[in-house]
Amino acid sequence: MDVRAATFCELDDLARLPELLASEPYRRGPVLWLGGGSNLLFTGNYPGLVVKVALSGITVLSENDDEVVVEAAAGENWHGFVQHTLAQGWAGLENLSLIPGTVGASPIQNIGAYGVEVKDCLTEVVCADLHDNRALRILANAECRFGYRDSVFKHEMNGRLLVSAVRYRLSKRPTLHTGYGDIGKELAAMGKADGASPRDVSDAVIRIRTAKLPDPAQLGNAGSFFKNPIIDTGLAEALLAHHPDLPHYPAGVGKTKLAAGWLIDRAGLKGYREGDAGVHARQALVLVNYGHASGKEVWALAQKVQATVKERYGVQLEPEPLVL
Ligand code: EPU
Repeated sequence: MDVRAATFCELDDLARLPELLASEPYRRGPVLWLGGGSNLLFTGNYPGLVVKVALSGITVLSENDDEVVVEAAAGENWHGFVQHTLAQGWAGLENLSLIPGTVGASPIQNIGAYGVEVKDCLTEVVCADLHDNRALRILANAECRFGYRDSVFKHEMNGRLLVSAVRYRLSKRPTLHTGYGDIGKELAAMGKADGASPRDVSDAVIRIRTAKLPDPAQLGNAGSFFKNPIIDTGLAEALLAHHPDLPHYPAGVGKTKLAAGWLIDRAGLKGYREGDAGVHARQALVLVNYGHASGKEVWALAQKVQATVKERYGVQLEPEPLVL
């Protein structure tokens, strides 16, 4: 999207945070803290200050024969960090390979893919408290109140805590998660049906994602544009009576999660295009910008998808990226 911020800066040294917080653009607001920018839709120019969090560094905090606790600074590229951990022989994040964005964004929406969420390996989130004189605050996993694409950072701590680093506990004796979707099939195609390593699982995930999901560097997109809706199981059962092949997963007591991609696909919108804004032809949950679509045009398409799915299935889809 060709959009501009009124003011932009990069924060590459936490010691300079006080200077930033005292600055005119920060005090005037609004302020947007930016990771990789891969989960945002701007429908126009940003009227305030955009701060790109560019803190870097990876440090081992503790290590024994079984596991390691490693801290990565918020600005580290997520996929680069995952590859680094695998190269050291540390397992746990392999299913989360090739997710765009930064380490600092990983707890905010509890990134997840192929049966694993970041909360499964995350021990603590290191933050600066922007309201309390920049005090260092360390939130334990449970305090982050992780949910499906959700955490405390999207709610009461939004705008209050700046994530500066994240700590993960990774294993030297891996338990692999190969049960989700096509991972087993992909490993078999790679000749690794037996004795797969975390590196192999990462390679399988990379192959699946590359085949289905467009690379944001080549075709603008924000990954899944909608969350998979979680609805009352009674409602899900009524839908399943008419659509027995609708993919669905248990999602807590009395709740069922549906595959939004399937709903959009079966509503006939896969590959649908309005100008340069489109529903991706290989994964209906992803909206893409073929070149010159404006944020407003992408948002108009998103609303059309929502209305069509609502009309056809009675299910309300919620956007997954932050729409500004
Ligand atoms: N499906 C269709 N048609 C489509 C797309 C999907 O019928 O066009 C069906 C698939 O056949 C499958 C089901 O829907 O039975 C689920 O599809 P898929 O495994 O591709 O995953 P998803 O539910 O569409 C979620 C995440 C992705 C993550 C994948 C893999 C959300 C919002 N999205 O997508 O995360 O990579 O699972 O775990 O939960 C993201 O958040 O940006 C993202 C890409």
